[in-house]
Amino acid sequence: MSDFEVWPGPMEGVGRGGFIDAVNQMELVPRWMTPFFRVSHELPRRRKLENFLTPFQAGCVPVCVQLMGTDAELIGVAGAEFVQMGAESVNLNFGCPSRQVTSGGTGGGALRHPEKLASFCNKVKAALPEGISLSVKLRSGWEDENEMDTLLPELAGSGAVSKIFFHYRTVKELYTLLPPEIRLQRVRRAVGLCGDIPLIANGDISSVDEARKLVSASGCAGVMIARPWLQDPFLLRRFYDDTVPEAELGRERFFAELKQRALPEGALIELALMLWGRESVQFKALISGKRG
Ligand SMILES: Cc1cc2nc3c(=O)[nH]c(=O)nc-3n(C[C@H](O)[C@H](O)[C@H](O)COP(=O)(O)O)c2cc1C
Repeated sequence: MSDFEVWPGPMEGVGRGGFIDAVNQMELVPRWMTPFFRVSHELPRRRKLENFLTPFQAGCVPVCVQLMGTDAELIGVAGAEFVQMGAESVNLNFGCPSRQVTSGGTGGGALRHPEKLASFCNKVKAALPEGISLSVKLRSGWEDENEMDTLLPELAGSGAVSKIFFHYRTVKELYTLLPPEIRLQRVRRAVGLCGDIPLIANGDISSVDEARKLVSASGCAGVMIARPWLQDPFLLRRFYDDTVPEAELGRERFFAELKQRALPEGALIELALMLWGRESVQFKALISGKRG
């Protein structure tokens, strides 16, 4: 077992039914954080919440539900319902860079008003059952990483947040490639700004070795891995099991598992693209099969 926490990064649009089943079946994650569940104007029906949560629960690992929205009270009520259904903890998304999301002040858009974050978190936390932990996932700032100097102490000192998931890029940086030294500088600084609140580092971590080095050089409490995990499906398991297959064999096995599920062809093609890339024979074969 790894001596720090290892989390799969939530991936909206990827993390649906058949994908979640296959991951659970192959025991590829030690825990889940769901993709964001958006709560807008009213509390969704219980059935909708159940349909969202149940596929993750089949893996018998703890599930943290990620929520997104602007109405803290409503988010708190939704969080409490998810907890009642068996979610282990709740996370708030303050990082999504999609313009559709940020323009409404949600996801990464929330970072434009750091002064509102602590009270938002406190309202959500107040609605959760006693002892249920609330975490946040955010980027280093809206347009400048120096914004973390305000954002992180605000969140860490709120009294409501017990863990911080930190994607080192700013919202404006989207997925721009940056040198690893920049990541280390930002993560190290972020850890210092969070004080006693544990920070889980995220962004471009693609091996166990890289994760170990980042943890020991920055003092972060763990790592979260999204896209590199899709390119090497056994990557998270490799942190605590050294008998797992190498990346290519892992991709083949995982894809074989996916194919056994009733996934729409489009979803399979999308997953092949994420696993192998646009130039791969696997992706091209699926595309030409579709055209043919
Ligand atoms: C397709 C896709 C969907 C994503 N959906 C979510 C989401 O629902 N919630 C979230 O907090 N982050 C989401 N992310 C961001 C990832 O969790 C992660 O923070 C980001 O990809 C950087 O980590 P990585 O370099 O390990 O991929 C998504 C990323 C991708 C590529």
